[in-house]
Amino acid sequence: MKNKKTVTTAAGAPVKHYEDTQSVGARGPLLLQDYFLHEKLAHFNRERIPERIVHAKGSGAYGKFTVTHDISKFSRAKLFSKIGKETKIFVRFSTVGGEKGSADTERDPRGFAVKFYTEDGNWDLVGNNTPVFFIKDPKKFPDFIHTQKRDPYTNCKSPTMMWDYWSLNPESLHQVLILMSDRGTPLGYRFMNGYGSHTFSLVNDKNERVYVKFHYKTMQGIKTFTDAEATEMKAKDPDFSQRDLVKSIEHGHFPKYALKIQVMTDEQAKSFKWNPFDLTKVWPHAEYPLQDVGILELNENPDNYFAHVEQAAFAPSNLVDGIGFSPDKMLQGRILAYPDAHRYRIGVNYDALPVNKCPYATNNYHRDGAMRFDDNGGSAPNYRPNSFDELIEDDNYKGIPYELDSNVAGYFDRNENDDDHFTQPGNLFKIMTPEAKLNTINNIVGAMSGISGPKKDEIINRQLCHWFRANVDLGMGIAKGLGVEIDPKLLK
Ligand code: NDP
Ligand code: HEM
Repeated sequence: MKNKKTVTTAAGAPVKHYEDTQSVGARGPLLLQDYFLHEKLAHFNRERIPERIVHAKGSGAYGKFTVTHDISKFSRAKLFSKIGKETKIFVRFSTVGGEKGSADTERDPRGFAVKFYTEDGNWDLVGNNTPVFFIKDPKKFPDFIHTQKRDPYTNCKSPTMMWDYWSLNPESLHQVLILMSDRGTPLGYRFMNGYGSHTFSLVNDKNERVYVKFHYKTMQGIKTFTDAEATEMKAKDPDFSQRDLVKSIEHGHFPKYALKIQVMTDEQAKSFKWNPFDLTKVWPHAEYPLQDVGILELNENPDNYFAHVEQAAFAPSNLVDGIGFSPDKMLQGRILAYPDAHRYRIGVNYDALPVNKCPYATNNYHRDGAMRFDDNGGSAPNYRPNSFDELIEDDNYKGIPYELDSNVAGYFDRNENDDDHFTQPGNLFKIMTPEAKLNTINNIVGAMSGISGPKKDEIINRQLCHWFRANVDLGMGIAKGLGVEIDPKLLK
């Protein structure tokens, strides 16, 4: 009996009858006074919280980040302060468009969200396994995501919606090409890269700023499923990536990723041939080489999925001193969107949940709200200024201003004059091996073959034009696969 514990109600009262309800005689009916029956059924009815509107299916693990190279000349962030320094992390990987029960091997970008628990607060780098994104203005996000979800009439996924939207938004081409390549179906989460994707800034102790892109390179090597293998795996094991991550950590095969940065000065940003803050573009490695920073290692499975993975709340607004935003419009939009989503999904005190809680002191005057389960600030003042506490505004943490082109945004003008959506996808196609090119073309043909309805030809032709503008061989291969005749004279 030494280690045995009594089953109790949520309020701690011992429960004698866990499985049988108190009744009038052995055959019932039941007595209302058996409160534990109500408690069980009522709690069960409330087990589900809203799933994430995107990235609903995911897997998570704890681990550590270790600095291997000194980047203190770029950033004063404490987590980078010395070689060998370790910071605890929590990572959540995900697919994007599917629901919480969807298959892990869908062709989809993969989320790669990292929470670094630093002494200056939590830093969340909420990235994907792709260096770019489908759109470059956050106002487009809800429309875009609707096309990745279910058709309002059929309640099925609709290739027609997807390609209609992509073909009408050619800035998506770069990301769509990556998605259609074999990297669109990674072999689980261990064998893919991650990217912060946006341009961020780093600030050093002299208050000097550089712009930066973050890359996580998988140290397991890149491995992907072919389209056929990924489709087969959807039926065989829809939780393939979840199982793979849990099992590999259980067996001591800890996944590792090398964190690297590309660095751009203010001067270089002004003369870069594209907009350096455009999320549909990369910075070529030859001009902005990768520089080593450290290693991420995942070494601990959370002991309870819901408590840690489902309740994890990542937000691009969670930055720490020494790491800053940039004028990237998408990043600016995301600063607002995530905390709002968390308040809806898990409540206003989401930051106090164990997986989200900063392990170091947090001091502010936020109080009360649903599910306030810590000491709520105790008896300390709940207003400011006050004559009682000693909290200060620390001038050392003030950032540096941007130089702006104009005082008022050109709202009625075009916001972005960079219409080159084609050079970089073309560059990517060029560096693919012949086998990768063929697979990519076949994957695109397979996906575009799903377009149907009265606008089918219009959508196909519009999208074909974009593929041709990126690369003629790519366009020809897709046109051939779709059985579309191309007049060679048009290509001259
Ligand atoms: P590089 O040849 O120096 O780099 C090519 C990059 O492409 C590598 O990082 C490689 O990743 C990655 N890659 C290879 N195949 C794919 C694929 N199917 N989907 C996504 N990424 C892939 O060239 P550049 O820097 O000049 O860039 C050329 C093109 O490569 C870009 O237009 C862009 O599409 C793509 N790319 C560029 C990145 C960058 O930050 N410059 C980052 C990722 C992609 P790995 O080394 O892990 O195999
Ligand atoms: C999740 C909004 C662009 C990566 C989410 C969620 C929202 C959202 C509301 C759900 C949050 C939650 O309930 O926990 C947006 C908006 C975007 C945008 C409005 C554009 C303006 C991006 C981009 C990336 C990205 C560009 C990657 C570079 C992720 C990831 C998650 C996520 C990884 C899942 C985080 C987790 O694991 O909990 N996004 N998103 N999103 N988003 Fe975005």
